[in-house]
Amino acid sequence: MNKLITGLFVFFGPMILFAQKTIPIYKDKNVPIEKRIDDLLKRMTLEEKMLQTNQWTYGKNANENNIESIQKGVRAEIGSLIYRSINPVYRNQIMRKAMEESRLGIPILMGFDVIHGYRTVYPIPLAQACSWNTDLVTKACAVAAKESRLSGVDWTFSPMVDVARDPRWGRVAEGYGEDSYANAVFCVASVKGYQGKKLSDPFSIAACLKHYVGYSLSEGGRDYHSSDVSPQTLWETFMPPFQAGVKAGAATLMSGFNDMSGVPASANHYTLTEVLKERWKHDGFVVSDWGSVENLIAQGLAKDRKEAGLKSFLAGVEMDMVDNVYVDFLPQLVKEKKIPVEKIDDAVRRILRLKFKLGLFDNPYVQELPEKERYYQPESMAVAQQLAEESMVLLKNNNQVLPLSNDIRQIALIGPMVKDSVNMMGSWEGQGIASVVETIMEGFEKEFSGKTTLNYAKGCGFEGTDESGFGEAVQTAQKSDVVIVCLGEMKKWSGENASRSTIGLPAIQHRLLAELKKTGKKIILVLSNGRPIELGDMESLSDAIVEIWQPGIAGGTPLAGIISGRLNPSGKLAITFPLVTGQIPIYYNMRQSARPKIGGYQDISNEPKYWFGHGLSYTSFSYGNVKLSSDKLSKKSKLIAQVEVTNTGNRTGKETVFWYVSDPVASISRPMKELKYFEKSELKAGEKKVFKFEIDPERDLSFPDSNGMKRLENGDFYLTINHQRVKFELIN
Ligand code: NOJ
Repeated sequence: MNKLITGLFVFFGPMILFAQKTIPIYKDKNVPIEKRIDDLLKRMTLEEKMLQTNQWTYGKNANENNIESIQKGVRAEIGSLIYRSINPVYRNQIMRKAMEESRLGIPILMGFDVIHGYRTVYPIPLAQACSWNTDLVTKACAVAAKESRLSGVDWTFSPMVDVARDPRWGRVAEGYGEDSYANAVFCVASVKGYQGKKLSDPFSIAACLKHYVGYSLSEGGRDYHSSDVSPQTLWETFMPPFQAGVKAGAATLMSGFNDMSGVPASANHYTLTEVLKERWKHDGFVVSDWGSVENLIAQGLAKDRKEAGLKSFLAGVEMDMVDNVYVDFLPQLVKEKKIPVEKIDDAVRRILRLKFKLGLFDNPYVQELPEKERYYQPESMAVAQQLAEESMVLLKNNNQVLPLSNDIRQIALIGPMVKDSVNMMGSWEGQGIASVVETIMEGFEKEFSGKTTLNYAKGCGFEGTDESGFGEAVQTAQKSDVVIVCLGEMKKWSGENASRSTIGLPAIQHRLLAELKKTGKKIILVLSNGRPIELGDMESLSDAIVEIWQPGIAGGTPLAGIISGRLNPSGKLAITFPLVTGQIPIYYNMRQSARPKIGGYQDISNEPKYWFGHGLSYTSFSYGNVKLSSDKLSKKSKLIAQVEVTNTGNRTGKETVFWYVSDPVASISRPMKELKYFEKSELKAGEKKVFKFEIDPERDLSFPDSNGMKRLENGDFYLTINHQRVKFELIN
């Protein structure tokens, strides 16, 4: 017997050892990624390659009853899946199929729209920008990443960094406002949060910069419409956030739906290949937007799906989101020699590279933790609350009506938003659950319980003509010392495919406010919305206005804290509030008019209601004189500007200092001023702090030409900080 075993070992032993040594190179985690990809590509058939370039989706309701059919429906060889379940078990089952049932065992990349939180829903991105707190945004994205990864998602379709200057466009809610620099800075902050230190960390997910590019300029704010973007505007306004995100290492980009001046964004060779891949050296990939490959037919660029696939692929879109054009036609197009195999290999290499970087080949499965260990962790909730607090903007505060004085005994809380939990979450609520949302009412109950009586009346709905609740609302106001009216937008009024011809609130909400004003009580207006609102008479009917946006699941307590004075508001607008819809577009860094004093509208003021940067505090800050280290600098030197800010009020507050640069004469005319740096800091009553900005000419004084090439020109510049304007000169 022993002899037999020894004999077998002598015979088979070397084979076993040889077999162990020859695991395929692509499966060997000690081999560098590019070599693993080389090896894998050699083994793949054309069909297997095609399958990598396609993304599938399945219905929303993945559960125990239908997971089996979902699993069957998904081919083991697919590149990517929009993963809509929160259950890591199903992800692991689907992944097991890919790893064990496909010939080569290539993991599937699971994507999902994690836009402002996964389960722990944060304020909408537009609100986040109003916090001017980039660290907090990074933390929020890191929490979203962890919750996502633990639920089976490896890749988010976020951040959206479309600079948005037309609030009729519903998607202003999803980005960081009207300023290009602000979008760039928050883009980097969120990429850092999602992707962490490295993608292979167990709680990192891949980011996706979208919608590349020019989508937010869709004509008249109509979603999906064409956008006429001049090459100069493209480079000055729309490209910088994408460029910053690519530099920060964003793994992927999504091509937009929009036709940009005759070339749809999903078939634009210049932006997708010449700039992104060749100039910026992005080594990740581009996914189309949902069906935006096929949309080339509607946009008049392709006669059929096959031609659409050809144009999109050759332009530089590597993955086709859900319309299956690539999987249906790329093999044929390769056989017809319309697409070179090398181009297919490059696309697949980019997709595989991300899978390797995420560690999916080596660790395809995620931990299967119970929900309570994945969501609503105390530290995540603290971030949700702080971000909601810092994003709220005190727009108006006549006679310091806020914070409420201590002698208030009865507060009326009136309006359709008071007990709302659905709309407070905003349009992309991820996997958020409305029943978990802290309502305004609940926040007030916690804040004021035992001290003040809260009287509630709904008054009216968000829209319609039903005024039957007005009587009760007026009585509720009459018996109270102060009236807090909570109005705003339903979540479906902003976000994707939610454009509006006017950005005012429905008439019924105005009428309710007007009725309440007649009681003679002090009126505090609380607004929750996904875009700037045309306030109309609401402004004059209110003594104070607090903009809370769509704050996510933890907005009630911060709002109540601001109203009571426990918290001091510190948000400032990242987008201008037009006076009326007809003023759109209106944003702080427009170019100078030829005749600056005339030529605006004849029938209205040419000032908006609230400019970008507006936001009040319960304390006051005074700015000393701005000091420059020199009034001249050369191209290779730096200039330090500093300003001392003092908290002159009697309570702690946070101030954001905005540094703007103007270049009054240049070979390409410049906007009136451009934000170049901002910093937010907390100052105690009486405390002084010196805020500094180091001007780097290359970074802060140059501007792009219409092909994105930087120009740095000598001459006078101005620095503007809180109404002060100081001159300096750039010399050789
Ligand atoms: C369409 C949207 O435009 C995009 O932002 C989103 O990520 C995809 N659908 C996927 O849901």
